Amino acid sequence: MSTQIIAIEWADGSVRLIDQTLLPVEEKYLQIKTVAELIDSIKRLAVRGAPALGVAGAYGVVLALDEGKEKNWSPTELEKQIDAIRDARPTAVNLAWGVNQVRPLISQGRDAVLKAAQDLAAADRKSNTDMGNIGADWLIAKLGDRKFNLLTHCNTGSLATTGTGTALGVIKELHKRGKVQEVFADESRPLLQGSRLTAWELAKSNIPYRIQPDSAAAMAILGGKIDAALIGADRIAKNGDSANKIGSLGVALACHIAGIPFLVVAPESTVDRTIADGSQIHIEIRGDREVTHLGDTQLAPDGAKTFNPAFDVTPARFISAVITELKAYEIAKGEAL
Ligand code: MRU
Repeated sequence: MSTQIIAIEWADGSVRLIDQTLLPVEEKYLQIKTVAELIDSIKRLAVRGAPALGVAGAYGVVLALDEGKEKNWSPTELEKQIDAIRDARPTAVNLAWGVNQVRPLISQGRDAVLKAAQDLAAADRKSNTDMGNIGADWLIAKLGDRKFNLLTHCNTGSLATTGTGTALGVIKELHKRGKVQEVFADESRPLLQGSRLTAWELAKSNIPYRIQPDSAAAMAILGGKIDAALIGADRIAKNGDSANKIGSLGVALACHIAGIPFLVVAPESTVDRTIADGSQIHIEIRGDREVTHLGDTQLAPDGAKTFNPAFDVTPARFISAVITELKAYEIAKGEAL
């Protein structure tokens, strides 16, 4: 089993994605050639995770330039198509950030845009390594030089980035250093990024793990089974309030009560210093069917209404530290981002 996972890359003049909706059963790659295909892949979570969405946004601008040339789009049409990529999902700031990083280079030509997008992907990969080291050092300094039981929520690994991952990157680094006893992976209902994707990555990395229903997390934490929880983020406000996969808030509250570290691990590109706090984060609400069905199996009565926010916001006061590629921000001690 190969351990190298490439979630997204530029290959053969188009965007190559692993279709994350099919994992772990099928490893199928998609060759995305048009803006419409890219937006569809983003909306149905074939590509997902904040840093990977940033890279998708940047490569999307190249796709738009190529498609626009072929179809003779007017400058207004081109801008409209690029805006549609930027707005395909609202919560992860990285998607708009990735688009905005390369957009100003359009006047320098398509190859300059592609080079900038590839540089952005390479920088993301390096940031994963740096976060892994900073986060691992932080936890060992905090908890001592021993093996840890770690809880994580959603998927923050290679599938969500271009490298080892954010929170999962820290876990992989701790494993390399011989410091992981076991990982408790929340299954992350309703789309099961934990049981489908994180477990798949942990297995590939030979890291001992078990999957638990999201509803078991509080019991595991308060029952003394967990030494620390690590999650990623989709957008972090200036005061440290952090949006991440629905269910993260419950994990943070339980860690706060248990008095164990709750770490948010994310690149600087996920920090949105234009917003003061989490109340300004737009939370994506997704469709009923994700809750009422599991694949084709109906789990609820016909016509059942749902509340299906894709993310929640953990207030900064419940976060021990935010780890980026630059440093560990000591949020619990009042340090600002
Ligand atoms: O809806 P998703 O799967 O895109 O949500 C992803 C998450 O919530 C991740 O934890 C977050 O994007 C960080 S990925 C390094």
